[in-house]
Parts: sequence; structure tokens; C-alpha cells
Amino acid sequence: MKPVRLITAVLAAAALSLPLAAPAAAGPSPDHRPPDHPRHSKPGTLRWAAPDGFVIGTAVAGGGHHEEQDYPDPFTSDRKYRKLLARHFSSVSPENQMKWEYIHPERGEYDFGMADSIVEFAERNGQDVRGHTLFWHSQNPAWLEEGDFSDEELREILHDHITAVVGRYAGRIDQWDVANEIFDESGELRTEDNIWIRELGPEIIADAFRWAHEADPSAELYFNDYGVEDVNAKSDAYYALVQDLLAEGVPVHGFSAQVHLSTQYGFPGSLQENLRRFDDLGLGTALTEVDVRMRLPESGVATPEQLEQQSDYYEQALSACLNVEGCDSFTIWGFTDKYSWVPVFFEGEGSATIMDGRFTPKPAYFALRSTLLEAGGGGRPAPPWAGRGR
Ligand code: XIL
Repeated sequence: MKPVRLITAVLAAAALSLPLAAPAAAGPSPDHRPPDHPRHSKPGTLRWAAPDGFVIGTAVAGGGHHEEQDYPDPFTSDRKYRKLLARHFSSVSPENQMKWEYIHPERGEYDFGMADSIVEFAERNGQDVRGHTLFWHSQNPAWLEEGDFSDEELREILHDHITAVVGRYAGRIDQWDVANEIFDESGELRTEDNIWIRELGPEIIADAFRWAHEADPSAELYFNDYGVEDVNAKSDAYYALVQDLLAEGVPVHGFSAQVHLSTQYGFPGSLQENLRRFDDLGLGTALTEVDVRMRLPESGVATPEQLEQQSDYYEQALSACLNVEGCDSFTIWGFTDKYSWVPVFFEGEGSATIMDGRFTPKPAYFALRSTLLEAGGGGRPAPPWAGRGR
């Protein structure tokens, strides 16, 4: 924990020069969500099955790895995909479309086209939006990563970006992944590959949250990362950092775990305990990118046993979130294998989502739905066709 202590010292020193602020996180309470509206919530769907105030989300496919595949942009071109996206989910996260390389392709030039259409889609369909992401080491444009900027210029670039992007969607984005993946596996801050931390020092993290809060005081502001499901070195690093930031009055409202799992490894058994300790700090919690990949047999088709294990992992992740009061947002990283990032990024692995490439629901789909129903969702009786999962 030595590195974190170091950061703590730096942040504490930075805080000395700031006016005193309230010790608790400023911002909305985690339990602000109204029940899903019946107009949007058809019986038998996942969003219908979710208890009031609990959103079930998915990434919206587009950009990133999709651009190298032999299909057109899924979100704008696949009608069946769009229909299921609206029907089953009460929250959406742009998979790539709000990342720097898409929304800020040239210095001083923003391209909000794709992000706008996702936010508008969400509004038409009564869905929350999780903004992703403002401060990351990956998918940054070359002009930024390869530019030769002074510290002041870089600070100004980040300030302008956060003000422009968060400000544009003020009041329309429920949660922002302000900072994504700022610690490495051993719980050390990414002082090399994260341009902001490398060039401007760890104090810039607090500024990113402050600027986001100024641009949209109603958005819940999150730290988001992978490998932080369990109580471990990495989640401990976040736990220490957010306590310091909260003590300084920095507007941090939530901590989220991505939850990219594989059936090759055990389920992260302390997930619930971990979420609870952040909840006890007064933070919201969320699971934001859930998928469960597997090493596929030669046939390329998952076995029934693999699908059962996958279903069990999805169910355990959902239950951990449902069991923690301030965890009211559960998002899967795509709902169909047709568009999953997994086969592209993990060689030999696949079948990570809840529906196959033809949108046929897997056991994991049914497990999620029944777990949501058991938690008190499903405002109206399910019709007989609901069992088909469409
Ligand atoms: C992935 C996307 O799914 C891909 O389309 C893209 O090519 C790379 O990024 N953690 C994150 C997400 O926070 O933004 C990543 O998304 C997956 C890992």
C-alpha cells in the first residue's frame, strides 16, 4: 500500500491550498430513480423484471473493434438490435462513442453526432445513460497522445474537454465514469500510460471530478475499473483514494466494477463485501461492463455445462449488486455475441454475453430475469410468451 500512501500525501498537500469543503460527497442521493414507466417496460422483458429504482443496462455497440468487422455500425444499422436494446434495457452506455478519440478527434474539434443519437434514443425509450469516459489511458486521439503541450496547455485541454462534453449532456446523463482504470493490477497509479497523471501528477484526478461536477451538478461521478471486483490490492487502492478525496470534499459519488469475468477463473467471491465497503463510505456502487467469457471448444460452440457456469456467474454478480442498497445499476457489456468485443480481444474465448449471435437467449438471460423478479420486480403479470425471452 506504499504507493497509495504516497498519493495520499500528494493529494493531502494539494488539498491544503484549497478552500474547506463539506466532508461528504456533494451530489444526488443514490436512490433517486423513479419506477420504470409501463409504456417502456413490456411484461417479460429484463427491464420489466427489474425492481423499482434498479436499472438494467447494456453497452451500445459502435466504434472501437466494431469498425474492423464486416458489418455496418450496429446501433444505427441493425433494426432487430435496436428493438431489443429499447425493449430489454433501462440504461445504456456508449461502448466507444463518448471516448476521446470519437468525441474529440482533433484539437478544439468535437464530434457529438454518435453520442447525441444515443442520448436521444435513451430519452425516447425512457432509459438512463452512463457516460463513458473522460479520463483514461486508452483510446485517446493521436493529437493528444503525441502532442507537445506544456502542463498549462494540457490542463486547459482536459478542463475544456470535460466542460464541453459533460456540459453538453447536463441533466441527461445519470452517471459518468469520470476516471477509468487509473490503477494498474498491483494497485499502483498509472503514472506512465495515463497521460494526465504522468504529465500533471495525481492531483489532476480531483480536478477532473470537480470540473465534471461544475459542468453537471446532477450527474453521479464514478471511478470505474476492471479487476476491482474482489477486495484486493487494486480495490484497496481505490478505497484509500476515495476516502482522501471525500475528506477533501471532492465530488466523488460512486465506485464501479466493470466485471469482465471468465469461466476459466473462479467467481470473485468478495464482490458483495467489496461493494458494501464503498457503500458504507456513502458512495453509490454499480456493475458497469459485465460479461462472462469462456474458452470455446474446437466446434466454436459453448457446451451446456459452460453455459450453466456462465449463467451462475451472471446471477452471482447481479445478486451481489441487488444485495447492496446503493448498487442500483447493473450493465452488461453488450447483450449479443454478434457484437461482443471478447473474441477480438481474448484469443480463443467467446460466447460472453446473454444472447447468441442470432439473439437467442442463453441460460444467463433467464437467470438474470428470474433473479430480478425474485428481488421484487415485474410490476405486471408476465404473459405466456414471456418464457421465450424475446
Ligand atoms: C472496449 C470496447 O468494447 C471495444 O469496442 C473497443 O475496441 C475497446 O474498448 N474496459 C472499458 C471499456 O472501460 O471501454 C472497454 O471497451 C473494455 C474494457
